[in-house]
Amino acid sequence: MEIAKILGEFHGLQKDLIHILHRVQAQFGYIPPEAVAQIAECLKISENEIFGVLTFYKAFSLEPRGQYLVTVCLGTACHVRGGVQIVEEMERKLQVKAGQTTPDKKFTLETVNCLGCCAIGPVVVVNGKYYSHVTLNKVEPIIKEYREAG
Ligand code: FES
Repeated sequence: MEIAKILGEFHGLQKDLIHILHRVQAQFGYIPPEAVAQIAECLKISENEIFGVLTFYKAFSLEPRGQYLVTVCLGTACHVRGGVQIVEEMERKLQVKAGQTTPDKKFTLETVNCLGCCAIGPVVVVNGKYYSHVTLNKVEPIIKEYREAG
C-alpha cells in the first residue's frame, strides 16, 4: 500500500527510477522485494534492470539495515592507511562481518570504495557523520557513542 502511494507521487516515467528507490529506501530503511515488483510493473521495466541499479548504488539495500549504518572506507587511500584493520576491528567489536547487521538490529557494518575525502582517511561514516584519521583505538569510542545513544 505504501509503495503504491509512493509510486503515485511520480508519473510512471523510467527516468524517476532512482528517485522512487530513494523514497522507498527512506520509507522502509531498505528496498523490500515486493517494492521491486511493483516498481517494475509501474515503470514497465524488468525487475532485473532494477536489481542492476540496486547493486550498482551502495546507497540502496535489499535487506533491512540496523539503526546505525557504519561505513568503513576501503578505497585505495584509506586502504593504505589501515582501512582493512579498521574493518577487522569493527567486526570484532560489533561481532558481525562486513555486510551484516547485529542481531539487535542496532548496527549494520558496510565497506565502501572511496567516499571522496581521501585526504582525511581512513574514514568511517556513521549515519552520515564522518570520522577522519580513524585509528584502531578510535573504533571502540565511535561504537560506544552510538551504543549509549539508545
Ligand atoms: S579512499 Fe577513502 S575517502 Fe577516498
